[in-house]
Amino acid sequence: MALKFSEATLKKVDEIIARYPNKASALMPVLYLAQDEFGHISDEAKMYVADLLDLPPAKVYCVSTFYSMYKNEPTGRHLIQICTNLSCSLLGAEHLRDYMCNKLGIEPGGTSNDGKFSLVTMECLGGCGTAPVMMVNRDYYENLNEKYIDDILNKYD
Ligand code: FES
Repeated sequence: MALKFSEATLKKVDEIIARYPNKASALMPVLYLAQDEFGHISDEAKMYVADLLDLPPAKVYCVSTFYSMYKNEPTGRHLIQICTNLSCSLLGAEHLRDYMCNKLGIEPGGTSNDGKFSLVTMECLGGCGTAPVMMVNRDYYENLNEKYIDDILNKYD
């Protein structure tokens, strides 16, 4: 198997496993490590994690593809996830999605030409009371407007 965590990441894996009664319980945090180290959780990465945690590959596949916070396909360096469900839509999420798409020169689901940002729409990010909401990687942003989005996107290299 060609894919392998760095020694530093393997140390983190050991630390995470030690927190739980069994290796299987470490799956979700270890998937985050795979995403951080490999850029996305490819099928090869899923097999590697399954091997590392003594899990059936199908279990790793199911968890990795069920939760939207895991990237199973290659994306830009930063993944924008904007909610377009009801609360966010009522407060302008579609307009803000289009604003960002125009700014980045992409369609929803696309990646900017410089490889910096990918943008996808989400069904609900659990912040309906502070809509519109989006995430960039694992950072959470609420009460969005155009100016705030400009400031947010400028923070990412
Ligand atoms: S509808 Fe957008 S966060 Fe819930």
